[in-house]
Parts: sequence; structure tokens; C-alpha cells
Amino acid sequence: MRVLGIETSCDETGVAIYDETAGLLANQLYSQVELHADYGGVVPELASRDHVRKLLPLIDAALQEAQLTHNDIDAVAYTAGPGLVGALMVGATVGRSLAFAWNVPAVAVHHMEGHLLAPMLEETPPSFPFVALLVSGGHTQLISVTAIGEYQLLGESIDDAAGEAFDKTAKLLGLDYPGGPRLAKMAATGTVGRFTFPRPMTDRPGLDFSFSGLKTFAANTIRANPSDAQTHADIARAFEDAVVDTLLIKCKRALQQTGFKNLVIAGGVSANQNLREKLSTMMTGRGGEVFYARPAFCTDNGAMIAYAGMVRLKAGCTADTRITVRPRWPLSELTPI
Ligand code: KG4
Ligand code: ZN
Repeated sequence: MRVLGIETSCDETGVAIYDETAGLLANQLYSQVELHADYGGVVPELASRDHVRKLLPLIDAALQEAQLTHNDIDAVAYTAGPGLVGALMVGATVGRSLAFAWNVPAVAVHHMEGHLLAPMLEETPPSFPFVALLVSGGHTQLISVTAIGEYQLLGESIDDAAGEAFDKTAKLLGLDYPGGPRLAKMAATGTVGRFTFPRPMTDRPGLDFSFSGLKTFAANTIRANPSDAQTHADIARAFEDAVVDTLLIKCKRALQQTGFKNLVIAGGVSANQNLREKLSTMMTGRGGEVFYARPAFCTDNGAMIAYAGMVRLKAGCTADTRITVRPRWPLSELTPI
């Protein structure tokens, strides 16, 4: 069985083809980064229009990459939420319509389930149960995962998501959008310990996060210090260390609370090298393991949607002919399979 996966929830157009036995046959991605760079963030209307322009050519390119025709596709999966409503509508409209025209089932995929399952595309996939840390531009969540679709929210950010905090702080440091990976690169040349940022909400019990204060702390630190390149790198380092430490402390707590041995990290921020290294060391010390996807499958992509679509298709979770998207969609509302 082969599934065509479509991702258009934000500023990346992703298309992939996943084969149940052969694995990933094609993976095409078009990033709108340049389009939004002048505005310092994603402009929803521009994002939707660009998905309209890029989606069909990318589907053609994916079929060509896999050396297939549409007759070889057994189902079409598309991101139905959460995300930007107009952007989601493009993928859902194209995906649902193609499935109708090709007379195959359609699968409406939850974007965060896509992220969560992305590490399954790697050579050594995690086995259930595990704690999942979802860290993207819109979400920071700790989830107890006992099976596909059995997701219990343990804690989440009460304000900014981790990726959002990275992007906002990067902007304060004069870095272009999307700032997260740029800030991480800058932090790599920073001096550890020259500045110390707080570890928000770690002094009290619970698994919720709050990252908006770090951005204010960064703004004040930038204002109070010289603006040379090394100082900026040192501030970036202090910010990154604070986010990584905070995530690590809460992951440890979630593992203690659930008694689970393994941890999965997913979403754009899981591409962060500092986070991966510190979590790996922590997990080795606990006799467990941390699982993550290759960097290209941490950020938005079509492969994770094709894979999640395949899993849901096999469980019979197909969409009716209405084209519906859900800009807000709690992961806990998904049905267990
Ligand atoms: O999962 P994703 O591609 O899109 C959403 O679903 O939101 O995540 C994008 C987020 C952005 O905030 C971006 O700055 C952040 O992930 N990000 C990183 C890194 N790579 C991407 N943050 C820190 N370090 C990175 N290496
Ligand atoms: Zn995402």
C-alpha cells in the first residue's frame, strides 16, 4: 500500500510517498522562508497563496521521484490541523479532491501526531510506552504515549512555545526569520556561564512550561550590555541553555511520574543539537534512551504526514467527502488505534 502525504499547515509545502513495505519512496519540500523573511514572521495570506502555487508541482515531482503515476497511489493523507486555517485549507482541498478523483480513500492527519510519529521513520524506532516532548513553533507539550492514538497530556506551555521563544529572542538579537536555527548556530560560539537566564517554573511541582519571560530577560540583558558579536553569542548561549535545561528538568519529572523508560522528542526544536546531546546524556544515565528524527524530519515535512496517514489508514480512519480543517485540535481528541 502506498500513501501520498501532503503538509501545508504553516510555511512549508511538503509532499511525500510512503510505501508500507519499501518505506519512503519520495520526499519533496518547498520552504517559504524567503517569502516571509522581510516580514520577520509568517504572513498567513501569503503562505496560503504560495501553497496554491507550489503544491501541485510538488505532487508531480514526488510521483516522478518515486517513478510512479497516480494509479499507484492507494490513499491521500493531508494535514487537517492544527495550523493556519488558509494554509490548511489548501492541502485539505487538494488532498481530498485528488483522493476523490483517483477514487482512493483520504486520511485527515493531525500535524502533531505526524511530528510525534516521525522518529518511527528512523532505523531504530521507539517502542511503546514512552514520554513524548513535542517542541515546535506552536506547541510545547509533554505527552504520555501508551499506543498510537493513546495520548495523555501531562503538561504544556502556558504562554509561548519553545520554538516561538527561540524565534522571538533571535529577533531581539537581530537575526532573520526563522531565528531558532540561527540562534542555535550563534549560541555554539557563545561562552557558557557569562550570563545566566532563569529556568522558568522549575521551582514548583508540575509539568507545565512558561517561556515568555525568557524573551523579556533576553531583551533586558541585551539592553544592559555592549552589542558586540561575542556578547550576543554569549546571550544566545545563556538563552539556549536555559530552554534546554528547563525542558530537561521537566522531561525527567515526566519520566519519574509515568515510570516510562524512554523519551521521544519531536517538532522543529528537537533538531537542536544542544537539546539532543543533553537529553542523550541524561537518558543514558537513567538507563533509558532518547529517540528523535533526522533534522529534516523534525521540522515540517510531508514524510511524517504520509507515515501517520498510512498508520491511520490501516486502522480504518478515513475522511468523508467533506473538506474540513481544524486550526485548533487537541491531540488528546484523537482516537486510539
Ligand atoms: O515543527 P516546526 O517546523 O513547525 C511547527 O509546527 O511549528 O517547528 C518550527 C520551529 C521554529 O520556531 C524554529 O525556530 C524551531 O522550530 N527550530 C529550532 C531549530 N530548528 C528549528 N529551534 C532551535 N534550534 C534549532 N536547531
Ligand atoms: Zn510542525
